[in-house]
Amino acid sequence: MKNLQEKSNSQGQEKDSLSLDISEEALQELATQSVTLVIDYFSQIANNPLFQYSSASEFADRFSSQLPLEGESIEQLMADCHSIFAATRHTGHPRFLGYVASVSTPVGAFADLIASSLNPNVNSWRGAPAATELEKIVVGWLGSLIGYGENSQGFLTSGGSMANLNALVMAHRVKSPNQVSETGLWNSTPMIIYAGDRTHFSITKAADIMGLGRNCVRTIASDANFRLDISSLRQQIETDLTKGLQPFCIVANAGTTATGAVDPLAEIASVAKEYELWFHVDGAYGALAALDSRKSHLFQGIEAADSIALDAHKWLFTPIDCGCLLFRNADTVRTALSFGIGDYLKLHEETEAESFAFWDYSIELSRRFRALKIWMLLRYYGVERIRGAICSNNDLAEYFGECVNAAEDFELLAPVELSICCFRYVPSSLSAKLALASETESETINAELNKLNAQILYAVQRNGKAYLSNTTISGKYALRACMVNFRTTPTDINSILNIIREVFLNLDK
Ligand SMILES: Cc1ncc(COP(=O)(O)O)c(C=O)c1O
Repeated sequence: MKNLQEKSNSQGQEKDSLSLDISEEALQELATQSVTLVIDYFSQIANNPLFQYSSASEFADRFSSQLPLEGESIEQLMADCHSIFAATRHTGHPRFLGYVASVSTPVGAFADLIASSLNPNVNSWRGAPAATELEKIVVGWLGSLIGYGENSQGFLTSGGSMANLNALVMAHRVKSPNQVSETGLWNSTPMIIYAGDRTHFSITKAADIMGLGRNCVRTIASDANFRLDISSLRQQIETDLTKGLQPFCIVANAGTTATGAVDPLAEIASVAKEYELWFHVDGAYGALAALDSRKSHLFQGIEAADSIALDAHKWLFTPIDCGCLLFRNADTVRTALSFGIGDYLKLHEETEAESFAFWDYSIELSRRFRALKIWMLLRYYGVERIRGAICSNNDLAEYFGECVNAAEDFELLAPVELSICCFRYVPSSLSAKLALASETESETINAELNKLNAQILYAVQRNGKAYLSNTTISGKYALRACMVNFRTTPTDINSILNIIREVFLNLDK
């Protein structure tokens, strides 16, 4: 009680106060120093090193691990923030092409600051009316950007994995023969999901989390272009039906993580319709490429999906975390998913809009104000500028593929469909041998190339001048460059190929 009395007497004073508010002066200092750090960062990101490698223990030594019992100064905190910036691998650097990882814009970064300051809990209209309305608006925008329709229903998630999990939960509940939520009884007849062999692991993980078992995900072979093969899909569904299993969902890729291939969505949609299966599209990476008119034909059929996962934090240039799940039939989903909530959450609003709650659809209850960064980003840049950035990423990937094809010491390993280029380094000593090799000899040479390219990747990732990742394509170790970075230029691509050559020459030194 004495403490509380002191609190009311000491409002406005910093130290020894029970309030965690800070003085206006301290707030100003925190704001100025933080903003300066961020402005310097954005203005220098292309000139600063991408990464300076040091070992995990050296890294750990840079940061104090002592639990601070007493507060520290803003200067000290900001000095440590500078160290964190210096010790980070910069995904916004023009030669970071490692993953389909977001390149954040300043607009998105400041939107996150504003959203966190306001800090609404976007779980329902009652909890956060403005943020809920904004989320409905941006969900409609995202739906219309990818050709799913401006009346799309949905919600924002932490990312693609959560959107995929939430979609499979919806699919499973809607397609379950009995009241699974109450009885948990579905597994008397195993329920089966179909997905191409290039599907992101979050789908199998979701099946595992849901208790369906990883084996319930049927891996369907790809065709020569790494797209799901329709006849294998049909065959597998028929086999499972004959065995008395219950197929319930097909997952199609709108841009695989490995090569960027887009599955034949329209054909998959008609198989799903024929067998009355839920049709989910994982467009976490690629769905936004529908904005590029040269690619939009690939996405025909997406409008028939029951649900779609997409990541604004991948190809809409917003900071992590920002995924989205879109779905077709909100009433069916709500009926299948909503159940007794705690009394403290019961809604007593009268209109349908005011009694709207994200918890009727989403796994999460407390949810952050993710919509603001998409809303500010799209309003600041406008769709045409975002479209331009996506088209330019696709152009760069095509250019990357052309450079690889034109070079004697590189080999393209997969068609460039969207903005990913998969290739390998083949030194002249091995390319000549490979051209004349028998099948057995090629196996030996390919094994050698696999080892060599793994060594090259390891060295490139530590060298700090560029960043790539890897995948396996038809047994071949591939270097993978993902163009979702609006700062990358053709000059960076030429440099990356030269960095690889340089790394190769220095491998044994
Ligand atoms: C096709 C695809 N789906 C899902 C995911 C998972 O997304 P997140 O990392 O946002 O959870 C990824 C990530 O790269 C992806 O490429």
